[in-house]
Amino acid sequence: MNRKSKPHKVIYTAYVATSIDGRIAESHQSGIDWTSKEDWNFFQKSLNKMDAVIVGHNTYKVSKDRLKRRNTIVLTSKINKLKTQDKIVFFNPKNSSLEKFLSSKGYKNIAVLGGGKVYDFCLSNKMLDELFVTIEPYVFTNGVPMFSGIRFRKYKFSLVTVKRLNKTGTLLLKYKNEN
Ligand SMILES: NC(=O)c1ccc[n+]([C@@H]2O[C@H](COP(=O)([O-])OP(=O)(O)OC[C@H]3O[C@@H](n4cnc5c(N)ncnc54)[C@H](OP(=O)(O)O)[C@@H]3O)[C@@H](O)[C@H]2O)c1
Repeated sequence: MNRKSKPHKVIYTAYVATSIDGRIAESHQSGIDWTSKEDWNFFQKSLNKMDAVIVGHNTYKVSKDRLKRRNTIVLTSKINKLKTQDKIVFFNPKNSSLEKFLSSKGYKNIAVLGGGKVYDFCLSNKMLDELFVTIEPYVFTNGVPMFSGIRFRKYKFSLVTVKRLNKTGTLLLKYKNEN
């Protein structure tokens, strides 16, 4: 293999803001206006270092305006062929390899932004190397779970850092995927 065609390592970093009870939203259509400004600042700063982001169709619909300035891959089952709109690519991973597509674009750092179905898809397809979990001090009692798998699986993560972001007790945890 010559130097030019050598595949590069892509790093996938997931960002999740959650309630204490592991919920990321009230409903599949709600926004993320309940998170702290300290987490928001951390999140935006982190995204600026990323080459592209991956989101699910529901998350895209609620965050369209903010995502349009980033290289965004929207996962959807509703299309057969890849569809591009400026910086947004609608992609159906059933029809072709998402990893191959991202690699062909030359992306090195990719942010996995959810929601629950996308975190689960990336985790089960070895596309989740690091995980930032922000725990906001709320209990939601119901809502969208962080990972929406259809069957039980167990993945091992190791804790890298813990940071308290503010006086109200928002915690930022960084994990590394050990699988
Ligand atoms: N707190 C947080 O950190 C955080 C982060 C992200 C999102 N959210 C919130 O979470 C909610 C949305 O989460 P969600 O779990 O409902 O949805 P989601 O993962 O954003 O979107 C689910 C949809 O994306 C498409 N999709 C996802 N994975 C796919 C795959 N592997 N193959 C093909 N299509 C795929 C499907 O759309 P089609 O129906 O088009 O096939 C699916 O119905 C929103 O309220 C959002 O604000 C919170």
